[in-house]
Amino acid sequence: MPQHCITASQFDRKSLLELFSQARAMEKIIAQGASDLAKGKILATLFYEPSTRTRLSFETAMLRLGGSIISETDVNFSSQTKGEVLSDTARIVGGYSDIIAIRSKTPGDAQIVADYSGVPVINGGDGSAEHPTQGLLDVYTISKHFELGQKPLTVSFVGELVCARTVHSCSKLLRNFDHIKFNFVAPEALQIPDEYFDPSKDQKYFDLNDEVLETSDVIYDTRIQQERISPELYEKYKTAFHFDVPTVSKMKPEAILMHPLPRVNEIAQEVDALPQAQYFEQAQNGVPIRMALIARGLGLI
Ligand code: CP
Repeated sequence: MPQHCITASQFDRKSLLELFSQARAMEKIIAQGASDLAKGKILATLFYEPSTRTRLSFETAMLRLGGSIISETDVNFSSQTKGEVLSDTARIVGGYSDIIAIRSKTPGDAQIVADYSGVPVINGGDGSAEHPTQGLLDVYTISKHFELGQKPLTVSFVGELVCARTVHSCSKLLRNFDHIKFNFVAPEALQIPDEYFDPSKDQKYFDLNDEVLETSDVIYDTRIQQERISPELYEKYKTAFHFDVPTVSKMKPEAILMHPLPRVNEIAQEVDALPQAQYFEQAQNGVPIRMALIARGLGLI
């Protein structure tokens, strides 16, 4: 039975801690350069939406594991433009490879590939639904700074939350741990969907105020996704949130500022030098997490 990674919902506290332990072992392999754990195995990356971090970190992960890669990175050069249905593509690519990572515009596509390919499938982001591997590397990053579930932690998600698949997956995963307070900071039109909001425990804010800045342990900022919201909403809110040095200086010294990246205007480059800025470390954590997910998917660990 292939071990897919399709949604954050498939992880519980125990499996998260196990994955993070495996990711720490992968960091040792990265420090050494590479291994031959996945020698002879092929990862297919099917990326039908733009990506820098997710695709390249998946491919880096497979190369660090000693495996090989085949890649389809532009839907315009795919036979889907000739009318091929995704389930047929999945059957074909599953015959060429041992594991598939897919990114697509349409929620549910990763599950279709899982249903038809016959090999393990990892969801690299399906439209505005989920981005579970980003959520996993996000929680792994938080776990490096704070003891999850041991002490009270306030996590504030800021920006465009309605279509923010990274926030959807990250918040789902964090709910496996006790003592976390969630704040969702966005204008009403861009607020978190009900399925990710617990009205009995969580708080919504409609602007980024000092209370959020001063009390959060983790601020997880997101881009206003022009490609997923209406032009009217984008124009109205494209500069709604901006983290500059005076803003970030209001955060606690040990608090961390995260962002799945790419950023556009929402975090000034001068912030990068502040101790709270952890978004580049966060992106690097994608490699060991994806190495662990590939190795698990292939049944190698
Ligand atoms: N965070 C993230 O998914 O980045 P890319 O779109 O560059 O893969």
